Amino acid sequence: MSVLDRFRLDGGRALVTGASRGIGKAVAEALAEAGCDVAVAARTLPALRSTVAAVEERGRKAVALDGDLALPEVATGLVERAAAGLGGLDVVVLNAGVLPHGEDGAVLLEPLHRADPEDWNSVIAVNLSATAALAGAAHDHLVSSGRGSLILMSSIAGVASLPALEAYGAAKAAQLSLVRSLAVGWARQGVRVNAVCPGWTRTDMTAFATGYGALSDWLTSHVPLGRWATTDEIAGATLFLASPAASYVSGHALFVDGGITVPEIGLGGFPKPASPLAGG
Ligand SMILES: NC(=O)c1ccc[n+]([C@@H]2O[C@H](COP(=O)([O-])OP(=O)(O)OC[C@H]3O[C@@H](n4cnc5c(N)ncnc54)[C@H](OP(=O)(O)O)[C@@H]3O)[C@@H](O)[C@H]2O)c1
Repeated sequence: MSVLDRFRLDGGRALVTGASRGIGKAVAEALAEAGCDVAVAARTLPALRSTVAAVEERGRKAVALDGDLALPEVATGLVERAAAGLGGLDVVVLNAGVLPHGEDGAVLLEPLHRADPEDWNSVIAVNLSATAALAGAAHDHLVSSGRGSLILMSSIAGVASLPALEAYGAAKAAQLSLVRSLAVGWARQGVRVNAVCPGWTRTDMTAFATGYGALSDWLTSHVPLGRWATTDEIAGATLFLASPAASYVSGHALFVDGGITVPEIGLGGFPKPASPLAGG
């Protein structure tokens, strides 16, 4: 097998949560391009139409699955429907995630001491509890695969400070802990477990910042590569971890962050505009 062939996943069967848009959609497309049939999940079926079309355009089967991962009972059924629809699972990408948001969908930036405890619960429910439940439900299928790969879409937030988004940061850090424990626990069963940690990536989730020039400029001024990531850049790293090219990689967190988590002590000389963020 040539080294490039090792990035292919022909005949693979993959589940991607949060696949209606953003990073999850790009990951579903990448997996299909590499040869996987893909089960794609989001809260509603209409939201998944364009991802289903994109998978099918690449000559692969798509299975659309609806389910609100804020509800604890949804995770197990979702995995079983994916496995039934594809005849098993080789790759599972747990990507669905949320920032705390109000009823109008606007992101809530509230420091812990002022935040509503319900916002903590709702962020933990989707980003952590559902992720753990989905991983547990996927275990037997990934073991049966013989080449199982589980990938959690964590974040730079898992290792960096995130004032006013503490619940999100705590959930993303806990995902990294889960990756380490599962990677060791499932290793002798032939299942690899890894995390992708995206940095600032241009999606609906970050529209609150990309759509606000001063905030966008401020955030990217802290990124050594000096710009937002595209969803394809996150998908490429995810495909690597899913593929035989990463067959000896487990328990790893792959940062795709333009270098932002490298401690920068000023010698880089990156100019920073005035901060648009108020303290408190
Ligand atoms: N964008 C970034 O800068 C960034 C950086 C680091 C990490 N991440 C992580 O990357 C992942 C994807 O982020 P993104 O930027 O692509 O976000 P996005 O554009 O907001 O997409 C989020 C996806 O999650 C799904 N989802 C949200 N709530 C759900 C729920 N309760 N049940 C089921 N599915 C739900 C959404 O589907 P529906 O709304 O259609 O149901 C959508 O497909 C997240 O885990 C996020 O934390 C993002």
